[in-house]
Amino acid sequence: MELKLIAQELTQTSKTTSDALVILVPDTFKPEKFVSKAAAAKVAAPQNLQELIAQAMRAGDFEPLLGKTLHVYRHALIQATRLVLVGVADGSAKNIKAAVATALAGLKSTSIKKLTISLSLLEDTDAASVRAAFFAAADASYVYSTTKPKADGRKLTHITVAVQKDAMSATELIAVQAYITPFIAGIEFAKEWANRPANHATPTLLGKAAQSLAQYKNIKVDVLGLKEVSKLKMGSFMSVAQGSDQPLRFIVLKYSGAAKTMAPTVLVGKGITFDTGGISLKPGAEMDEMKFDMCGAASVLGTFRALAGLQPKINVVGLIPACENMPSGKAVKPGDVVTSMSGQTIENLNTDAEGRLILCDALTYAERFKPRAVIDIATLTGACVIALGNLRSGLFSSDDALAQSLFDAGEQSGDLCWRMPLDEDYAEGLKSNFADMANVAGRAGGSITAAKFLQKFTAKYPWAHLDIAGTAWKSGAAKGATGRPVPLLLHYLLESDAK
Ligand code: BES
Ligand code: MN
Ligand code: ZN
Repeated sequence: MELKLIAQELTQTSKTTSDALVILVPDTFKPEKFVSKAAAAKVAAPQNLQELIAQAMRAGDFEPLLGKTLHVYRHALIQATRLVLVGVADGSAKNIKAAVATALAGLKSTSIKKLTISLSLLEDTDAASVRAAFFAAADASYVYSTTKPKADGRKLTHITVAVQKDAMSATELIAVQAYITPFIAGIEFAKEWANRPANHATPTLLGKAAQSLAQYKNIKVDVLGLKEVSKLKMGSFMSVAQGSDQPLRFIVLKYSGAAKTMAPTVLVGKGITFDTGGISLKPGAEMDEMKFDMCGAASVLGTFRALAGLQPKINVVGLIPACENMPSGKAVKPGDVVTSMSGQTIENLNTDAEGRLILCDALTYAERFKPRAVIDIATLTGACVIALGNLRSGLFSSDDALAQSLFDAGEQSGDLCWRMPLDEDYAEGLKSNFADMANVAGRAGGSITAAKFLQKFTAKYPWAHLDIAGTAWKSGAAKGATGRPVPLLLHYLLESDAK
C-alpha cells in the first residue's frame, strides 16, 4: 500500500482521479457561508464541493454528526468515481477514526484501489488526526488470507490523505508520512500472527516469524529451544510447556538503534499459542479464541517490525516465551510445585493460570539487560475483561513515571489503557503452604492478583504490565486481532527516543 500525505485545498483534491473521495465534514462547517436558504430552495447546481455540502445540509440530506454519510456517484464536480461525505462532529482524532471507518464500511465495493481522504474542512489537524485517518483506512481494508486462500486480498493500493494548506509544515508532512508506513506494517504484522490459527502459529513458527525480522537493519534474533531454556533453569516456563507435543521456544529480539551503553527497554510478550487451560481444562464454548493467547507475543513482533522501518535511536529487547498449554499424561497437575528461574517456588493451583508462569521466567531473564524499563504484554486474565471491557487495556505499574508515560502514549495513539492498583494487600491470596507462592488467589480482583504475582519477579527494574485480554481481539462476526497495543508501545518507545 502506498500512503501519501498532502496539503491541499478541497477544490484541488476534487480534481484528482481516484476510486473514492471521502470528505470529512466537521460541525464547524456552516452551510450559510456557501448557500442561502433561497438559493438552496431553487436547487441551482452547486459550483463547488462546499456548495454541494451546504445544499445537502440545507435539504436535510446530510448532517456533520458522527457517522452520518451521504454517497454520491460520478458527480461532475469531482474526478473521483465516488464521493462520500461523512460527519466527523468535533473533528477529534477519535472521531476521525470512527468517521473513516464508517465511510469505508459503506464503500464495500471491491473496485476501490485508490482512496483519497480529505481532512481539509477541519480547522485544526495535526499528526494525530492524520494518523487516525490512515490507521482507520488501513484497518478497514485489512484482509486475513493466510488460511483462506480464496478470499479476495486487499484491493486498496493507494491511500492519500489531504489536509488544509497551512495545517502542517512541509517538513512535518514528510516526517508524518515517513512514519505512518512502518507503523501500519507493524500493526499488520501483529494482526497477521495473532489471527493465524494455533496449528499455523506454533511456537516453532513464531520463532521463524521472529527470525524473519533479522533481515532488517539493527535487528538480531535468537531463538532458544528446550535445551537452552533448561540450562537457564526456567522451571516455571517449562512446566507449562511439558503437556504439549509442540516444543517450546524462547525468542530474544534485539533492536540496537543507539549506543550499547544506552539501557534498553525490554518488552515481554505472552506467547501461549493455544490455551486449553491444561488439566484445569477450559469449557468448550469459544475455546477457539484461545489461539489469540499469543497476542502479547504478536504485539512484540509487530513492534519490532515497525522499529525496523522507523530506525529510532533507542535500544529495545523483545522476549517471547512461547508454548502451548495442553492437558496430557505429561502435563503439569494442580498442586505441583515448580522452581522458577528466580529460585522462588510456585504451587500450581490452577493450570489455566499459565500466562504468569511463563512470563515470570522471562521477567527474570530480562534482568541481564539492566533495562531502563520492562513492559510485559499479556492476554492474562478474563477478570480484566470484566473490569475494563474492550476499550482500555489494564495498566499495572510499580513506577509512577512509567505508568504516566504509558497512559499518555495510550491517549495520544488512541490505543487506550487504564491504570489499576497494586496494593500489597492484594498479594495476600497468593500465599501457599507448600511453596513461596501459589499461582492463583481467589476470584476477586483477578487481574490485580495476577499482576501481583508478576510483580514478585520484577524487583530489579521499573516495571509495567499491560493486560490486553479485552483489547487484543474482537469476538463475534468481526472476530479478529486488533493489532493492539502496538500503537501504544510504539508511541511510548518513540517518546523515549525524544528524551
Ligand atoms: N488466557 C487466559 C485469559 C483470558 C481468558 C483472556 C479469556 C481472554 C479471554 C488466561 O490464561 C487464563 O485462563 N486466566 C484465568 C486465570 C484464572 C485461572 C485465575 C482466567 O482469567 O480465568
Ligand atoms: Mn489460561
Ligand atoms: Zn492464557
